[in-house]
Amino acid sequence: MSRPAYQSIADLPPLDPKDPFFGANPFDPSFRGDPHARLARLRAVAPVSELPFGVFRLARYADCQRLLRDVPTGVRNADGQIDGRERIPRALGPGEFMLQQDPPAHPRLRRLVSKAFTPRAIERLRAPVKRLVDELVERALAKGEMDVIADLALPVPSTVICEMMGVPIADRARFTEWTAQATHLLAAQFAPQEVIDRAAAAAEALEHYFEDLIAERRTSPREDILTELIRAEEAGDRLTPRELIAQASGLLIAGFETTIGLIGNGVRMLVLHPDQLARLRADPGLIASAVEECLRFDGPIPLTIRVTREETRFGDVVIPKDRRVMALLSAANRDPAKFPDPDRFDVGRSPNEHLAFGGGAHFCLGVHLARMEAQLAIGTLVARTRTLELDDSPPEWGASLFRVLGRLPLRLSA
Ligand code: HEM
Repeated sequence: MSRPAYQSIADLPPLDPKDPFFGANPFDPSFRGDPHARLARLRAVAPVSELPFGVFRLARYADCQRLLRDVPTGVRNADGQIDGRERIPRALGPGEFMLQQDPPAHPRLRRLVSKAFTPRAIERLRAPVKRLVDELVERALAKGEMDVIADLALPVPSTVICEMMGVPIADRARFTEWTAQATHLLAAQFAPQEVIDRAAAAAEALEHYFEDLIAERRTSPREDILTELIRAEEAGDRLTPRELIAQASGLLIAGFETTIGLIGNGVRMLVLHPDQLARLRADPGLIASAVEECLRFDGPIPLTIRVTREETRFGDVVIPKDRRVMALLSAANRDPAKFPDPDRFDVGRSPNEHLAFGGGAHFCLGVHLARMEAQLAIGTLVARTRTLELDDSPPEWGASLFRVLGRLPLRLSA
């Protein structure tokens, strides 16, 4: 069974004293598959550091939490620009999506869709999601094997977000690749130009797709988020046509690129920790805390970025005003100063105040939806099976910027 190559700091090759990444270079292809020991060392030797391109990184929980909640920050530079945007050709990209907007645009955009994501609105989706999950798990059981990504982790969130948005599920095959590719625009400042070009082409394809769908929906409105956004745009003062398309494609991307990662990584972690899998089987009531532990231990979004609005000190380092700062969420979530025995996967961990959904004004809007989908998908798979087995092949990562598996083959029995 494949396990991460580096279990602890002691297993790592020695640190090169001239390496500005302190051995945790997110652009090194091996980093995504195996980040945790490297992040632990980074947190120990350089908890606050500056990268060669002028961006700072925070690796401690308390610093990340402070950046997200307490320090005056924005997501754009003081002049309203986003570093790296100039490298993106014509495509709309994520720049107009709420995640990359500061006030007054940010609260205006968030408010337009937030009622679709309240706990009560999400609870109404539970029964249909349960039916879908049951059907997918029964189908896999009949075959005795499954690819957790293609057969469960992808169909659940994509079906749900398409339904909520009013996007025909039959078109899913067309935009699955686009949504994965388009995530790289969030890292436009750092990614190689060819990655950005591919991402921009995908964003453009999504933009055209939504232009057609919006034109059609204008003439035949329905009860869905797209119609709601079109009404706001037609009212004139609440949403521009560009913002409309950006919220539609941004929500589609946010709604499934992330949750695929949570379900896929979560199932993998449970199978790699048979004692915890057995514990969850014996006590299905642990599913909510098990999903929180999956988010903490191996969450799909490794970092989020803010721009300082004033000079701010973190530990020994003073970060000047108007500088980009990464909160390394996956490093914060394994910080021993916050989580006792942080490298132990514990499905009953409590309290578990992880930062996998970010924090502050941009705290994930889809948190209730993601939790409900993951609890049903992982909980049902565990409850309906007696055995779950991975083969020995190393994990295959997908095309998105996030920590999302491309394939996860599994043998299962009832
Ligand atoms: C496991 C699943 C998910 C994870 C780990 C996740 C994580 C995140 C993170 C880290 C952020 C940035 C927060 C920050 O910068 O402070 C975010 C923002 C956001 N997420 Fe999620 N997310 C997930 C699922 C979803 C789903 C299902 C939706 C539904 C559409 C969604 C919609 C959003 C939106 C709209 C934002 C931007 C909020 C804003 O800028 O105000 N997310 N998410």
